[in-house]
Amino acid sequence: MHEVGMLCKLLKILASRLSRAEQKLLERGLREAARKGDVAALYHYSTLIGRTVYMEKPSPSWPGFFKEYTGCQRLARLPPPVSTGGLDVLEAIRRRRSRRSYSPKPPSLEHVATLLYYAVGVTGWNAEWPLRSYPSAGGLQPLEAYLVAGSVEDLESGIYHYNPRSHNLCMLRPGNYMTRLADISLGQEHVGEAPAAIILTAVYTRTASKYGARAYRYIHVDAGAAVQNVYLAAEALGLATVVVGAFHDEELCSFLGIDCYEEIPIAVMPFGYPG
Ligand SMILES: Cc1cc2nc3c(=O)[nH]c(=O)nc-3n(C[C@H](O)[C@H](O)[C@H](O)COP(=O)(O)O)c2cc1C
Repeated sequence: MHEVGMLCKLLKILASRLSRAEQKLLERGLREAARKGDVAALYHYSTLIGRTVYMEKPSPSWPGFFKEYTGCQRLARLPPPVSTGGLDVLEAIRRRRSRRSYSPKPPSLEHVATLLYYAVGVTGWNAEWPLRSYPSAGGLQPLEAYLVAGSVEDLESGIYHYNPRSHNLCMLRPGNYMTRLADISLGQEHVGEAPAAIILTAVYTRTASKYGARAYRYIHVDAGAAVQNVYLAAEALGLATVVVGAFHDEELCSFLGIDCYEEIPIAVMPFGYPG
């Protein structure tokens, strides 16, 4: 009973922060969630686009297109991405598979740079507006990419943030963290056996600043495209990878030093040459 009282209190606070129209949507979401016994229904019905209303509550703050770290422990300049050769895109789509067996041979820095660039890189500019390798709702580009380098050629082991504007890596922490990453990924051994991994996150307010709560849907569509970019680029470079969505969210956030609500961890992608 105590929990129910607390839920009512929290619901009252939430409702008091919404418009009448948004309260109606929330009510529908609650009704459906209760009927189906599924919390997902609460979000689903609350964020539908109706003919007359949807829960568009834009956040006033726009965090900008790029996350810039200051005080990097080390700045690693990346070689330009490979831009020719590889596979025809249709062939890459046909061959793409989730691959979980890796050779211990360290991936070359050029291949790592290429994966990061094709995952979320800046592939052009429209005046001041960056253009990316992945489509994004409203062109708002919420994704961030991190590299966990266990064993990469010509790169000190560590956790890095990829800056797509400068095509650089900023070292957040030195050391080989692949075993820890496997532990965070619900103990999936293949993660710990990979020489490196890319982690994709989404800065929620970049998209929510325009779309409100519906942004939570869109950022996953954006991320799905970036995940496929990594798969296809890996296939073209002769690398093996798999998308891992099973992880302890809050542990992954502290691993990266991010706030789990502001920046949502979406995918871990271990990679290496096929074993
Ligand atoms: C959202 C999502 C989460 C996934 N999570 C995991 C995971 O935690 N571990 C894993 O080994 N594979 C994971 N996979 C990979 C799937 O198992 C794989 O895509 C599926 O078996 C189909 O195989 P294919 O990719 O070779 O076509 C995930 C895939 C998706 C799309």
